Formats: sequence, structure tokens, C-alpha cells
Amino acid sequence: MTVRPLRVGVIGLGWAGQQHLEAYRAIRGVEVVALAGQEADLLAELGRRHEVPATFARWEDLVELPGLDAVSIAVPTWLHAPIAVAALRRGAHVLSEKPIARTGDEAQTMVDAARAAGRVLDVVFNHRRRGDVMALSDLIARGAIGRPYYARASWLRRNGIPRLGSWFVNEEMSGGGPLVDIGVHVLDWSLHLLGEPRVLSASAATYSELGPRGRGGGDRDTLTHETSAYEVEDFASAFLRLEGGGTLALETGWATYRDPVDVMDFTVYGTEGGAEWRAVGATDVPVADVQVFTERGGHPADHTITAQPGRAHQAVVEEFVDVVRGDPGTWSAHDGSHALTRARVIDACYRSAREHREVAL
Ligand SMILES: NC(=O)c1ccc[n+]([C@@H]2O[C@H](COP(=O)([O-])OP(=O)(O)OC[C@H]3O[C@@H](n4cnc5c(N)ncnc54)[C@H](O)[C@@H]3O)[C@@H](O)[C@H]2O)c1
Repeated sequence: MTVRPLRVGVIGLGWAGQQHLEAYRAIRGVEVVALAGQEADLLAELGRRHEVPATFARWEDLVELPGLDAVSIAVPTWLHAPIAVAALRRGAHVLSEKPIARTGDEAQTMVDAARAAGRVLDVVFNHRRRGDVMALSDLIARGAIGRPYYARASWLRRNGIPRLGSWFVNEEMSGGGPLVDIGVHVLDWSLHLLGEPRVLSASAATYSELGPRGRGGGDRDTLTHETSAYEVEDFASAFLRLEGGGTLALETGWATYRDPVDVMDFTVYGTEGGAEWRAVGATDVPVADVQVFTERGGHPADHTITAQPGRAHQAVVEEFVDVVRGDPGTWSAHDGSHALTRARVIDACYRSAREHREVAL
């Protein structure tokens, strides 16, 4: 029996879009039938290399293509909602890059569109596929550290503003700085590890100290350079109160005077043990060891788990494809609401920072 291939369109040619493209190409029975982006040479080159039959400069034209089963969105954040809503209304399933959108209200329009269309809306949270996060997730879910009551997590860079002048630093296009960009990953892996507790309130502070002075720019090869003024924060910290009495402290920064080697980490204290992982070198280091601190028979039984590297975008895209090709009865569980929850928390953090007070969710 021949199964009809899944026909996918990818929008965006930057680092993120290329991860999607390569991940789909590696899955049997998936055809990337369309690609869109504004860099004409790169569009032609990627189209040739990945044997994509239709290429477009404008996302609007890709979404109109008849017979598309799914669309991947890897463009600047202000375009996530209009593209997702248009694609969902035309009956396509959608995989959007993180953050789902600039704000919770914008994200809500995407979730509403997915529910109305009865289609899948998944959002890429590739860092929860890190080997260290997966190993610690198993450990916590097995009850090995008891009830987690406090956690802290961060992603910090010294010179990591994705690119000074690009859409990332333009408030209207990005919705914010590191808090909404990389902080959403930190929030995601933390809530995931803690078992998805509801966030009750947020108290946060944001700073914009280096970016506006032209400092802290990274060398990331971001494609779109609108030469925007620096309008967003470059560092943020937040303290979240969780359902059940737990608390979570987050730090995220694109640029601060700190060790030049980037770091991502997570520490948790539970009633029967604690654990932490710390990836020094961050994005270049796909996995860290997980340290576990616990007792057996009243004696320390600390140990280290050596985690395997995760599969990042490949794993996310494969799961999306599996869900889309699977039982339609499972689609409603993939309506983007997980990502919407994170967007609401980030909204509360920005509001708390603006109003200098704790904000309830
Ligand atoms: N999950 C991750 O690890 C990860 C990493 C990097 C970026 N991202 C996310 O991916 C998205 C894109 O980031 P990037 O770094 O690849 O950006 P980028 O600026 O490098 O690329 C953006 C792409 O969008 C295209 N684009 C812009 N407007 C368009 C339009 N009207 N029609 C068609 N194409 C259009 C551009 O031509 C370009 O190809 C962002 O939402 C970002 O947050 C996720």
C-alpha cells in the first residue's frame, strides 16, 4: 500500500528555517513542496539543494498553495500569528518557532484558530529535548528527589544580542529581548521539569544597559538586518510563585559583564534530594552531566548521570509529523496552549517589570 506523502511548506531561511528544512528532509514520506524567504539567492540555493519544487518571496503566496498539509513558521516573531492563522484557516497543520508570538493575546488568536480548524498547532521547544533535561525529567517524574519546592534556571550570554540592528532588537517585530527570546526556553524547560505547575504570579525586573550603547552584539548570522535602534531589554530576572507552594527563579541575558563563555543551567531542590545540570558553552554544548544530591539510609548518595545529547529540532519535527499523521483524536491536545501558557507568564513578567510590583496570573 502506498501512503500519500505529507506535503509541507517551510517559511524562513535563517538558522531556524534551515533546521526545519533539514529535519523534514530526513523523514521518510515527507515532501517539502514549498519554501519561502526574502533572500533570493539563498532561496534559490536551498530550493535546489533540497529539491523543493516551489519557492516564494512572500509567505502569503506559500500559504495559498493548494494541497499543503502542514506549514513550518521560522520567521521574525511578529509574523508568527498572521501566518499561523492564515495557514490553519486553509486547513494546514502548523509548526511554529518559539516564542509562539509577541504576547499572550496574539498567541490566543493562534490557539483559537487551531481549535476552530481542528488542526495541530505545535511550537518548537527544542531545549526540552536536551539529554540533560530528559534525564532529569525522568528522575523527577520517578519521585527520586521527592516533591520539588524550589528551582532556579538561567541562560546567560556575555556578547549574545543575536545581532545589533536586526529585528530581534526591534520591539514591534520581536515583542521583547532575551526574556521572550531565550527566556521562553528557560521557562519551558523549568516548567516541564517541575511537572507543569500553574504559575500563580510573577515578579520581574528588566534592564537595558549594554545594547543601547552598541555593546554586547553577537556574531550570529541573522539574515534580516533592519538596522533598528536598540529597543528591548538585554537582561531580565524573574521570580515565579507556583501552584502547590513551589517557586522558580529565572535569569536570562543576551549581554552582561560576565564570563565570556555562555551558560545554561537548572538547579532544583526537592524534599528527598536535589539536582542540577550546567552546560558551560551553552549553545555549542548540547548536553551536560546531571548531578544528583540525595541520601540513602541517612547517608549521602550523591551521583552523576551522564546524559546523551538530545536531537533538538529533529526530534520536535518528527513528533509534529507523527502527530499530524496519527490519530486525529489526538490533535486537540496539540493546540498550542502549552506555548500560550508560557506567553502569558512572560507577559506577566514584562508587566511586573514595568509596574515594579508582583503580578498575578
Ligand atoms: N528554537 C530555536 O532554537 C531557535 C533558534 C533561532 C531562532 N528561532 C526562532 O526562529 C524564528 C526566526 O529566527 P532566525 O534567527 O532564523 O531569523 P532570521 O532573521 O535569520 O531569518 C528570518 C527569515 O524570515 C524570512 N522572512 C521575513 N519576512 C518574511 C516574509 N514576509 N515572507 C517570507 N519570509 C519572510 C526572512 O527572509 C528570513 O529568511 C524566530 O521566531 C526565532 O525566535 C528559534
